[in-house]
Amino acid sequence: MAYQTLLTNLENGIFTVTINRPEKLNALNKEVFKDLEKVLQEITENPEIKSVIITGSGNKAFVAGADITEFAGLSIEEGKNLARNGQNIFFKIEQCSKPIVACINGFALGGGCELAMACHFRIAAENAKFGQPEVNLGLIPGYGGTQRLTQLIGKGRAIELLITGQMINATTALQYGLVNYIVPQEELMSKAIGILDTINTKAPIAVSACISAANAAWDETINGYEIEIAQFGKCIGTNDMKEGTSAFLEKRKPVFKGH
Ligand code: COA
Repeated sequence: MAYQTLLTNLENGIFTVTINRPEKLNALNKEVFKDLEKVLQEITENPEIKSVIITGSGNKAFVAGADITEFAGLSIEEGKNLARNGQNIFFKIEQCSKPIVACINGFALGGGCELAMACHFRIAAENAKFGQPEVNLGLIPGYGGTQRLTQLIGKGRAIELLITGQMINATTALQYGLVNYIVPQEELMSKAIGILDTINTKAPIAVSACISAANAAWDETINGYEIEIAQFGKCIGTNDMKEGTSAFLEKRKPVFKGH
């Protein structure tokens, strides 16, 4: 499928989505959001796609935020709709049944940090910088940033970052638990591919079940333990579970088929 603001590439089951507005540091405008929504549909529907990398074009920015030029002249209702739309798309990323990793190749600010946090985990290049600088614009994050930053790094650190608007570097992000790894920029994609190659050998239904149950830990409207029970039951009923347990007992590698 062709996209106006995204580049995509599918190789060995790993689908790489590159936000491609390098001249604007990959800022998220309306077109990017439309494309993200479309690409999420492609990710869900294409059985060849097993896992996903989201990154930014160039070597300076992952995403430098929502496109600030689109904020001027918005009414309160329009502002709320903008935030709601962004939140909905980022929820779809978070709840995607296929693993999505953010490869952060530079600035991840505002909506860029929020996009990275909506992904299932994050890998940072050494030059990555993170922040929620909305307060400098008289704003707050609107795409789930206040919630996910608090979940990922804790309330005290999150509130400090939100109300100072200050940026943190990759080392601090690693120390805070915002990213899982820091690697030299030229190794960023190969690090993600290495991890996803491993994940892609696992039973896909079990992988999705892990994501769904872990997400439930942060949803106060549902009981995460009940979701875990339901997902465990679902996995027990799959052929892949029979294959995985038989392969273990027969001392061979399992071959999972995704059903
Ligand atoms: N929205 C719209 N345009 C943006 C943008 C954003 N969030 N971030 C960067 N750009 C544009 C700049 O306006 C500039 O465009 P121009 O060349 O037409 O003037 C281009 O991207 C390059 O950015 P520039 O500011 O010149 O690069 P820099 O290296 O001097 O600074 C940043 C990099 C990331 C520190 C700086 O661009 C910045 O602070 N961006 C905004 C971050 C932000 O507040 N994000 C939250 C938005 S809610």
